[in-house]
Amino acid sequence: MQDNVRPESMERITTPELADAFIAEQLEALKAQIGDKKVLLALSGGVDSSVVAALLIKAIGKNFVCVHVNHGLLRKGEPEQVVEVFRNQMDANLVYVDAVDRFLDKLSGVAEPEKKRKIIGAEFIRVFEEEARKQDGIEFLAQGTIYPDIIESDGVKAHHNVGGLPEDLQFELVEPLKFLFKDEVRVVGKALGLPDGMVYRQPFPGPGLGVRCLGAITRDRLEAVRESDAILREEFAKNGLEGKVWQYFTAVPDFKSTGVKDGKRTFAYPVIIRAVNTKDAMTATVENVPFDLLQHITARITTEVENVNRVLFDLTPKPSGTIEWE
Ligand code: XMP
Repeated sequence: MQDNVRPESMERITTPELADAFIAEQLEALKAQIGDKKVLLALSGGVDSSVVAALLIKAIGKNFVCVHVNHGLLRKGEPEQVVEVFRNQMDANLVYVDAVDRFLDKLSGVAEPEKKRKIIGAEFIRVFEEEARKQDGIEFLAQGTIYPDIIESDGVKAHHNVGGLPEDLQFELVEPLKFLFKDEVRVVGKALGLPDGMVYRQPFPGPGLGVRCLGAITRDRLEAVRESDAILREEFAKNGLEGKVWQYFTAVPDFKSTGVKDGKRTFAYPVIIRAVNTKDAMTATVENVPFDLLQHITARITTEVENVNRVLFDLTPKPSGTIEWE
């Protein structure tokens, strides 16, 4: 596994100048590896796959095809941002797949967390496979593998690759970031001109909002998760917590409670806010969010988000809670 060990001579990429040198070197290496062949990438819009996409657009232009699968479990504005940045601004050969109904139909009535994850993973591979078959002459598959993926799991990390493709779709791999740590990927992404919202994005699980819409996913609760998450992110950004808090999000459980609005009784869902800090996600502490900010966010969520009448703040460190709720 010698070619999976970061060369000792490799300097840590900490400045725009070092990022530019890395980019120039990678562009040459990519051109040499790929020649006039075609490359395919599953582009989630997360920082790793976005940086790989930006490099490949520069290296081989239209011979690079990226596929963005909208499975309906992305955060508010994310699919639109992928289309805007990669198709409109960078002129990439982007295939946008609206697979929302397909995923939600498959997930309908499934409450068990690991079953939900399996369905999302398997359906993702199926959609990607269908798109791959529509493309002629693909010889390479690009992946946003980064060095921690190799160190932690011997090169296999579900959310950074599309392992599980059938035998006749085994392409040669292109992994330009495989020796970089996350902070270096961000410096490179910035130097490539990607927007800050993409480069400094907090970690987001592969199954997306699917593990935050607790139990069997329904469209009304999924929208409540998406809308409340957007409000939380907006307020954290406005109040200097973006980039300071490691991960923050909302979850919506599958039970209702009573409330009152405009003098009328309501029966609606609660929204749970989680905001944690950690180094390696193995343990985590809870961010001490100012109480007046929590009250303000609560007021916004209960007035702006449909089907919600309460907001709760999760005070649990990991352990005993995990970061996600399922
Ligand atoms: P937990 O909930 O296990 O989460 O404390 C630790 C970190 O991992 C993320 N996470 C996932 N990431 N697929 C992913 O790609 C998943 O199924 C998944 N589950 C949890 C979580 O967001 C946190 O950063």
